[in-house]
Amino acid sequence: MNVALIGSGGREHAIAYKISESNLLTKLYILPGNPGTAKLGANVKIDIKNAHEVVSFCKDKEIDLVVIGPEQPLVDGLANVLRQNEIFVFGPDKEAAKIEAEKSFAKSIMDAARVPTAKYIEFDASKYDRAKDFLKQKKYPCVIKANGLAAGKGVVICNSAEEAEKTLRSFFIEKIFGASGEKILIEEFLSGEEASVFAITDGNDFICLPSSQDHKRIGENDTGKNTGGMGAYSPAPIVTPNIMEEIVVRIIAPTLKALKNDGKAFIGCLYAGLIFTDKGPKVIEFNCRFGDPETQAVLPLLKGDFLRLLYSAAEGKIDKNIISYNGGASVCIVAASSGYPDSYKKGFEIKGLDNLPDDIIVYHAGTSEADGKIITNGGRVLGVTSVVPENDLVRAKSKAYEALEQINFENIYYRKDIADKAIRMNQ
Ligand code: AMP
Ligand code: GLY
Repeated sequence: MNVALIGSGGREHAIAYKISESNLLTKLYILPGNPGTAKLGANVKIDIKNAHEVVSFCKDKEIDLVVIGPEQPLVDGLANVLRQNEIFVFGPDKEAAKIEAEKSFAKSIMDAARVPTAKYIEFDASKYDRAKDFLKQKKYPCVIKANGLAAGKGVVICNSAEEAEKTLRSFFIEKIFGASGEKILIEEFLSGEEASVFAITDGNDFICLPSSQDHKRIGENDTGKNTGGMGAYSPAPIVTPNIMEEIVVRIIAPTLKALKNDGKAFIGCLYAGLIFTDKGPKVIEFNCRFGDPETQAVLPLLKGDFLRLLYSAAEGKIDKNIISYNGGASVCIVAASSGYPDSYKKGFEIKGLDNLPDDIIVYHAGTSEADGKIITNGGRVLGVTSVVPENDLVRAKSKAYEALEQINFENIYYRKDIADKAIRMNQ
């Protein structure tokens, strides 16, 4: 089978790694890929925004399956164009990808499916005064969210009416998120532990992969700015088998059914971001793709042919028995460039990547290659991931940090507390 994987981050390196283990694979192309994926297949420089270029590449190379990693090409309709050209795709059409791209659409699906989520009210920019009045008589904290995509920065937890009014102004008047912030949702604040669950689906049926948890803030103990994710672990102990069953029955199954009933059957990975309140799990967000960095921790815990799973979903006949959890644990620590998520320097050589133990996988995210050397080329540089055969996050954590001590580049920064919340919960 010839496979084209779209994307260039740590998530795509993790997907490429897993696909490359499959006996079904003939050739893997990664568009555009990174120095890590180059070791697993052929990186191809191509403008992935140009769907017709991607189609001609696929025809030329006789591609049997396209796997789309990031949200933007999905939201832009790359899967639609590929399917119109009779190419199998793992990833939803743009109509179904709206579950991530438009929070108000996600809420309407959840309302239709009676899926537990935070109470909310919507305003668009033309109702600025009404929104201001509403915020004056609200209880705090509350959450203001941009309706559209905002690179993970469109959610603000407001602790007072003043903060809420300032946030409203920044969305509606200063337009910090442009069109994405022209409509907002004001949501009830929920408190509890968070976790992510990925459902792999052919539009009708699905399987869930082991749960995980991201660490979104830059600083230890979840302080400081939001980032694209500073680390993850899997599985998340809060998601016990009973809770997973509840998530399947009350959240994933009804959401996929409601999407299908709405004429927007979802083929791909539905990401449920969940918060565990004292009234049970509630949805914070849906994404239309694998999460990053969670995928870097989740995929190494899968036993079975991952490529066959993705192909069977893309074909509309998901093989639910092909993949199972291997019983292990994984911790992924993101090594970032100091200064991220604001400005940072790049171009430093990364040392210590060779001779790491077998139970460590170093996923590349923001790297490039020059004169045979790997150099830093982004904010999130590497995902240093340990995989242990037993469900022991303490061991997985210490292995990942031991490996990090061997890796170095100028201005390296990483959080020291990845997985601590889960470890505390297990004690
Ligand atoms: P999102 O970009 O939707 O993942 O939101 C970013 C983060 O904001 C989440 O991981 C939560 O920690 C927090 N958050 C979002 N919605 C709520 C909510 N309704 N109540 C409390 N925290 C929330
Ligand atoms: N880890 C959060 C995301 O992928 O959106």
